[in-house]
Amino acid sequence: MKNVPTEDAIRLALSKVPYPGFTRDIVSFGIVRGIKIGSEIEVQLVIATNDTGVARELRDRVIRVIASLPDSPQARVLVDVQAPVQSSGQGPTPIPGVRHVIAVASGKGGVGKSTVSLNLAAALSREGLAVGLCDCDLYGPSIALMCGAKERPLADDEGRILPPEHHGIKIMSMGLLLEDDSPAVLRGPMVTRYTQQFLRNVNWGSLDVLLLDLPPGTGDIQLTIVQTVALTGVVIVTTPQEVALIDARKAISMFQKTNVPILGILENMSYFQIPGEETRHEIFGSGGGSIESSRLGVPYLGGLPLDPAVRIACDQGVPVVLSDPDATVSKLLTKAVKFLLTALG
Ligand SMILES: Nc1ncnc2c1ncn2[C@@H]1O[C@H](COP(=O)(O)OP(=O)(O)OP(=O)(O)O)[C@@H](O)[C@H]1O
Ligand SMILES: [Mg+2]
Repeated sequence: MKNVPTEDAIRLALSKVPYPGFTRDIVSFGIVRGIKIGSEIEVQLVIATNDTGVARELRDRVIRVIASLPDSPQARVLVDVQAPVQSSGQGPTPIPGVRHVIAVASGKGGVGKSTVSLNLAAALSREGLAVGLCDCDLYGPSIALMCGAKERPLADDEGRILPPEHHGIKIMSMGLLLEDDSPAVLRGPMVTRYTQQFLRNVNWGSLDVLLLDLPPGTGDIQLTIVQTVALTGVVIVTTPQEVALIDARKAISMFQKTNVPILGILENMSYFQIPGEETRHEIFGSGGGSIESSRLGVPYLGGLPLDPAVRIACDQGVPVVLSDPDATVSKLLTKAVKFLLTALG
């Protein structure tokens, strides 16, 4: 009997196959759903595109890579084209003029999604990209405050909101529409409508990347977004602590179920270092983000330190990557952005 390749060997080979149009591989994109080894090798893929060319190209690429393995039997590739869950009869669609829409999500509240979104946006803008940031946290908007934005946005001739620009980023936030202390009182259907308005009724112009800062949890807002917007992918923010990871896994599962690629996991509040000292104080534990990334086979985008400079910059309305570009946290954020840009191709 020949030494047919093991499942691990096949998975390793598949992890070198890029998804058509991306530099990311099909394993880390999460579309390889099953490998069966018998008289032939059967690979199951699940994709969420109606482009038949993509399915055909994937099938060819997988067959080719498996055929190149020593002693490999013939491969059969089943491509399941799943239309994502829909609420309106129309599936997720792109936002006109925007090349990549990337969500930033966490599951758990307070782990630093908004801080990370703003700083990723600023770092992308520093790389020369046209960037927008939409604060999808309608109940607890923080982006306007974190950007130092106070002005009411104006509308264009077609009644679409013109997002003000701060630190080179076009921003939209409920914080720009509310009086200072008044809470946003929104019920279910209104939440869906507002979310749609923020994405579709804003004149974003021509953008390379639109980042969506999501609220915590996996509620109406997240659901509206995954059902209606064609996302390039999602960046998951978590602290190393198990309670944060539990919620992160719920969020990850929601994105996987709707075939949104997980672009990577970024750990925040990984450690604290007293200035001038070597010791890292791992206040929320250690390793959670990288372990979860390996478990899922998705990139680990790094671990950001707890640094008072982040909070101070935030309170002053400036992203830390601009106010203190040489700080460790800023360098790590910039590195994460460079990685994301390579993955987007
Ligand atoms: N690495 C860090 N170092 C220091 N402070 C940080 C860091 N990351 C976030 N913070 C601070 O922690 C607080 C919570 O961050 P942020 O509002 O970004 O979290 P969030 O996940 O968006 O919260 P919510 O779930 O409420 O939307 C903020 O005061 C922010 O300034
Ligand atoms: Mg937030």
